[in-house]
Formats: sequence, structure tokens, C-alpha cells
Amino acid sequence: MSAPLLELRDLRRSVRLPSREELHILRGIDLTVESGDHVAIVGRSGSGKTTLLNLLGLIDHQTGGELLFDGVDVSRLGDRRRARLRGASIGFVFQQFNLLEGRTALENVMMPLMYGSAGQFWRREKLALEMLERVGLADRAQQLPSRLSGGEQQRVAVARALVRRPRLILADEPTGALDVTTGEAVMALLDEIARESDAALVTITHDLQVAALSRRSYLLDEGVLSGVGSDRARDALSATVGIRAGREAVAAPSADDPAQTAPLQETQA
Ligand SMILES: Nc1ncnc2c1ncn2[C@@H]1O[C@H](COP(=O)(O)OP(=O)(O)OP(=O)(O)O)[C@@H](O)[C@H]1O
Ligand SMILES: [Mg+2]
Repeated sequence: MSAPLLELRDLRRSVRLPSREELHILRGIDLTVESGDHVAIVGRSGSGKTTLLNLLGLIDHQTGGELLFDGVDVSRLGDRRRARLRGASIGFVFQQFNLLEGRTALENVMMPLMYGSAGQFWRREKLALEMLERVGLADRAQQLPSRLSGGEQQRVAVARALVRRPRLILADEPTGALDVTTGEAVMALLDEIARESDAALVTITHDLQVAALSRRSYLLDEGVLSGVGSDRARDALSATVGIRAGREAVAAPSADDPAQTAPLQETQA
């Protein structure tokens, strides 16, 4: 049997503050993510979401516990092997798109292929064009990002994240800068392309509606992860945001109850 794509065992991250005090940002996270999975992690501002994503993306190092990527304990890898694994196997999508200004949509999507295998490098223009076509932007390939709408820029960013066919896609508030309809379209596209290539997708969001589009949702609260619908998540949600928590709130947000569909951050009293 092959190992899961990602396995987190009691994963921890703490930092030493200037006051010498230790801040425990992640307090022991257990999570398994298989290829083809779509997992959403919801949490208030400051709950540790980006910190967790940076560990999953091999950008930062954990301070305790284990993170296995395809069965490999990443803490044993040197910086160069981590960077190689990250480039070849992980794609990132951010809230603010992070496209290079002054470069066309096509050049942005070609960028990751500069560091790919020789085969990818020599076919970079063709591969990037195919990916732009896949996200419905083939006709905008020569456009600069500043001439594209927010939704289009995010689709370029999705194409760039996926052009090397990563096995893991990490999305940090991917719909945060988009209106609801455009955001839903971008999420559907991400989910669809991830599924096509059997990649795992981990989405981080404030938005219960976005979380509802995933297969499994978790709540991150004060550095502890719990399955949405669990007692801990229910308590945390009702204690911190004062909304009716529980599986139904996340699985089926109702349009006539604004408290259920509003982003967590904004429903805080
Ligand atoms: N290097 C660091 N040094 C000190 N504190 C840090 C560091 N990194 C993160 N923190 C603190 O850890 C907490 C979690 O940060 P993180 O960025 O993971 O939150 P988040 O859930 O992504 O929030 P947001 O929704 O606002 O993006 C915050 O209180 C933050 O100030
Ligand atoms: Mg964050």
C-alpha cells in the first residue's frame, strides 16, 4: 500500500518572541491528505492558517512532530532537496494572485517551467498555452495582468500553480479578493483541475461557503485542528463567532441566514 500524500503527526510550530516568551502557534496537528482529496481549513484571523500552509508548502520548518510527504519525513531533507520537492510537487495560489507585473499572462504561466525538467523547459511555451486554454484564457495570453480582471488574474495564477502538474495544491484565501460568483467559479476550476490530475487540494479560507465546496472541512482554532461537526469545532465556532455551528452550517450554508454564510472573521462580535 502506498503512503498518503501528506501525513501530519502532532505537527507543531512555535516561535520565540522578543520578550523571550514562546508563542505556540500550532499545538499538535494530526491530518492525513490523500491524492485527489480536497480539504478545507477554516479559521479566524490569527488562528495559524498561513503558518500551517507554510509548513505544508515546505517553506517553513516545524518545531515539533512529523510531516511526511509521500512517506518521506521532510525534516530530514536538506534545503536543496526541499526546494526541489517544492518546485516539482507543490503549486501555490494566493489571495493577491502574486503575478509578475510587466510580464504577460503567458510569461507568468511559463515561469515555473524555467525550473522544471529539461523536457518541460523546452516545451514551456506550449505547456503554458495549454494550461491557459484549460482555464479559459488562451485568447488573453499576451495580456499584462494589469489589463485583466481580478477573476482572470486568479485564473492565470491557477494556471501558473498547475502548469507543472503538482501533486499538492495549496491555496491561501484564493477567493479573498474576488466577488462571490467569481470566487465560486475559481474554486470550481481549481477543484476540477486538481481532480483531473489526481492532485490533492488544501484550501485555507475564512469563508464557510468556500469550505463547503471541499470534501472535508476542518476548523483551526488557537493552533488546534478539529473536524467540522466535532464537539470541539462546534464549541469553538459558537464561542468565538457566535454563529450556529456544526456540520450543517458548513456543509450547506443557507442563503437566508446571513450569519451562516458570512466570513468567520467578520462575524466576530
Ligand atoms: N514569525 C513569527 N513571529 C511571531 N509571531 C508570529 C510569527 N508567525 C506568525 N505569528 C503569529 O502567529 C499567529 C498566527 O499567524 P498566521 O499568519 O498563521 O495566522 P492566520 O490564521 O493565517 O491569520 P490571517 O487569517 O489573518 O491570515 C498570529 O498571532 C501571528 O501574529
Ligand atoms: Mg493568513
